[in-house]
Amino acid sequence: MTLIAVLAGDGIGPEVTAEARRILEAVRPGLDYQEAPVGGAGYLASGHPLPEATLDLAKRSDAVLFGAIGDPRFEKLERALRPEAALLSLRSELGLFANIRPATIFPALASESTLKPEVVDGLDIVIVRELTGDVYFGEKGQRTNAAGLREGHDLMRYDESEIRRIATVGFEMAKRRKGKLCSVDKANVLETSQVWRDVVTSMAADYPDVTLTHMYVDNAAMQMVRAPTQFDVIVTGNLFGDILSDQASMCAGSIGMLPSASLRAWSGDTGMYEPIHGSAPDIAGQGKANPCAAILSAAMLVRHSLDDEASAQRIEAAVAAALDTGARTADLGGNLSTREMGDVVMRALV
Ligand code: NAI
Ligand code: MG
Repeated sequence: MTLIAVLAGDGIGPEVTAEARRILEAVRPGLDYQEAPVGGAGYLASGHPLPEATLDLAKRSDAVLFGAIGDPRFEKLERALRPEAALLSLRSELGLFANIRPATIFPALASESTLKPEVVDGLDIVIVRELTGDVYFGEKGQRTNAAGLREGHDLMRYDESEIRRIATVGFEMAKRRKGKLCSVDKANVLETSQVWRDVVTSMAADYPDVTLTHMYVDNAAMQMVRAPTQFDVIVTGNLFGDILSDQASMCAGSIGMLPSASLRAWSGDTGMYEPIHGSAPDIAGQGKANPCAAILSAAMLVRHSLDDEASAQRIEAAVAAALDTGARTADLGGNLSTREMGDVVMRALV
């Protein structure tokens, strides 16, 4: 029996995850689902954002369908008890070092991007973001310094093996796509980036079909809005990838459109699938959230963890067809509720 752990989280997480699950049940009947609280919901249920039973379920499952976390009621708690701590722990406990974030534009949305249609037309990028290292996991702390001033620090570090395994995902991905890999770093000022660039460069000879380029992250941010279609696959560290993928989402029309997969192996292994957006407290509980990012994350789940490309494409085609009918949630200028948008996608399944 294939077990799907459903960790809907808090904020809009449960709203969008319900729609993703509904589509998944329709496309792949017979999967076993188990729900568990995480984030703010975990804290409310058991006093910890990642209850032991939730982590245990995630470890036992064939795939995790994740919503979002970040209930602002708990943001003043100590770091380990804040909702976001659960996400970092899940990623590292499950060894999910590779975060795959495709940013594609659905034809129906090309004229609705905040960028000009000719700039985003044909957008098809995959951002491969390292997920278990960098400043998010480096040594961190706060103290009062000698001058009596409060200071904080977060150590950026990567070793060669961490870089090699994420770059391998980038090269393999590029090999299967348009053969272009852009490694994004800040090698002009950061030692971490220098190691990063050297390791990635040393791997290029093993991938003769892939053209490797390097770009500084500040330039990459500029290029992402100037001419985003120049990119095929981008491989980068945790922090840069976090920022660039939110930016890429606007090239695709809305942050409510972008799914992601967090993996520890290329395919056929467990993974965690979630929209790139957060818990959106400003619209939570109002039925306004766009469920497409969550639904498209379910498609990635089917593709990577269940090795079922046909069903993945079926879900993606249904989202495209739903958008073709003009169906839109508020983030895309429409007035459909989360549920109604899910209904349209459901009807568009063929
Ligand atoms: P956010 O992604 O939650 O929201 C940013 C903006 O986009 C808001 O205006 C929101 O309404 C809108 N938005 C996001 N998803 C949407 C959707 N599906 N449909 C329509 N509009 C949508 O980022 P923000 O506000 O910076 O963070 C809120 C909380 O979420 C914080 O506690 C943050 O730490 C957490 N967070 C959690 C993530 C996760 O669970 N993976 C990722 C990013 C942030
Ligand atoms: Mg982010």
